[in-house]
Amino acid sequence: MKSITELEELRKKALEKMGVRANTDGYRIVVGMATCGIAAGARPVMNSFMEELQKREIKNASVTMTGCVGVCRLEPIVEVIDPSGNKTTYVKMTSEKAVRIVAEHIVNGRVCLDYTIGYEDKK
Ligand code: FES
Repeated sequence: MKSITELEELRKKALEKMGVRANTDGYRIVVGMATCGIAAGARPVMNSFMEELQKREIKNASVTMTGCVGVCRLEPIVEVIDPSGNKTTYVKMTSEKAVRIVAEHIVNGRVCLDYTIGYEDKK
């Protein structure tokens, strides 16, 4: 039987391997992974976020997943919560959009307005 310490170490290694970070101090990137999100391509979007954060060695951001976000027609949906708690909802996400969001929103603090739910609804 493993001790609590050993289990914690295993958990930490598994999360690192998955690229999911437990950092909650900085930006939180939450990817909707309900069935509709996965069908629309949420998995490669999440992978792109993790790869881009790793590539740029960004430590103040975490990637997590959630279930139903409530708007199937706009999936894949990603919410970015900044360190002050402000939430931006990005819709119809792609891997390319994920790369730009990391560069502009996470690194420079500029919301990519043209990918947001508000912008999409005005179309
Ligand atoms: S089932 Fe699609 S957003 Fe909830």
